[in-house]
Amino acid sequence: DSAEDLLRIADLIRPVPDHPEPGVLFRDITPVLADGGAFATVATELAAHTGEAELVVGVEARGFLLGAAVALVAGLGTVPVRKAGKLPVVAASRSYDLEYGSATLELPAGVVEPGTRIYVVDDVLATGGTAAAACALLTDVGAEIVGFGTLLELTALQGRAKLGDLRVDALLSA
Ligand code: PRP
Repeated sequence: DSAEDLLRIADLIRPVPDHPEPGVLFRDITPVLADGGAFATVATELAAHTGEAELVVGVEARGFLLGAAVALVAGLGTVPVRKAGKLPVVAASRSYDLEYGSATLELPAGVVEPGTRIYVVDDVLATGGTAAAACALLTDVGAEIVGFGTLLELTALQGRAKLGDLRVDALLSA
């Protein structure tokens, strides 16, 4: 059943101590994506939460992989939110603090119309800085965010608090 599937998926997530900096326990979801059954379960479970969304946005980099799979299962298109400097034409840009360091995210131009209902996907919700910046970019261009879906929420880091009253769908928490 679904609870057993999720337990198996939790076992596939690989904790990597001191990456990318000393003191950070990195959660590597690569083995989940590499397992066909686990990948399908995650995409299907998150797709079930997309509701009234018209578009799925995936956040670089593992959020691209998950977001694209969720979009395909849900019958929706997908748009990547990228780290700065990768996109040829940018609609909006936001800087944010990471658990380690800081970064800037960019939304590609010409693919998100004002008023579009969006479901945002990333692999992990940690401090919430990434998710909050991705959501801010989308609201900057007039989109409406209907929810944020993730494989793993690191609850101790309280990322949810950065997302206000946005609905957060986390398949697993640690
Ligand atoms: C990781 C993860 C999320 C983000 C979560 O990405 O994939 O995007 O951190 O952290 P936060 O909630 O504290 O912001 P990372 O920065 O490692 O980038 P990558 O996916 O491009 O490797």
